[in-house]
Amino acid sequence: MSRTWSIREAERRDVPELLAIEVAQFPEPWTRAMLLDEITDTETRRYTVAVEGKRIIGYLGVMYVLDELHVNTIGTLPGHEGKGVATSLMDDAWRVAKERGIVRATLEVAVTNTRAQALYFRFGFSPVGVRKNYYERTKEDALVLWADFDVTS
Ligand SMILES: CC(C)(COP(=O)(O)OP(=O)(O)OC[C@H]1O[C@@H](n2cnc3c(N)ncnc32)[C@H](O)[C@@H]1OP(=O)(O)O)[C@@H](O)C(=O)NCCC(=O)NCCS
Repeated sequence: MSRTWSIREAERRDVPELLAIEVAQFPEPWTRAMLLDEITDTETRRYTVAVEGKRIIGYLGVMYVLDELHVNTIGTLPGHEGKGVATSLMDDAWRVAKERGIVRATLEVAVTNTRAQALYFRFGFSPVGVRKNYYERTKEDALVLWADFDVTS
């Protein structure tokens, strides 16, 4: 089945739509100022959005640290999950990161967020540790995941 969305780099004008996804999908949503800071730091960050029609249905933010990629955030608009939106955003990020010489990737994910974990495991991530009480509001622990690019798709 062909994709009904395209992927492009995020722009300042996208912030209100990204905020709406943050608020809908995260117990501790980022603020407008945080999102704006992230999007405009194009030296070390790369934020991308999946656009269907005129609507943003998902986004991904990664940060480059030396030869590592850190997944800062990923979210799909409620009602658009399970269609491969997050997978396509990660495929795109992996392709660009490999071109940049990135060799591994890391992220934190809540221990109960099995949906996101399933996505990450498909991209070759494995757990290497736990950060206790990582999330301020929920006090939940986070799994620390790493993936080597040479073994990922
Ligand atoms: C986690 C999250 C980003 C996944 O986004 P998504 O767009 O639903 O992800 P995908 O569709 O790419 O993959 C999810 C599932 O859809 C399935 N899928 C992929 N392409 C598909 C297609 N064309 N048709 C049907 N299903 C498909 C995948 O097999 C996958 O299944 P599984 O994860 O249940 O094994 C989304 O649920 C979300 O925003 N969650 C809240 C925020 C969050 O937790 N972010 C991560 C923080 S660390």
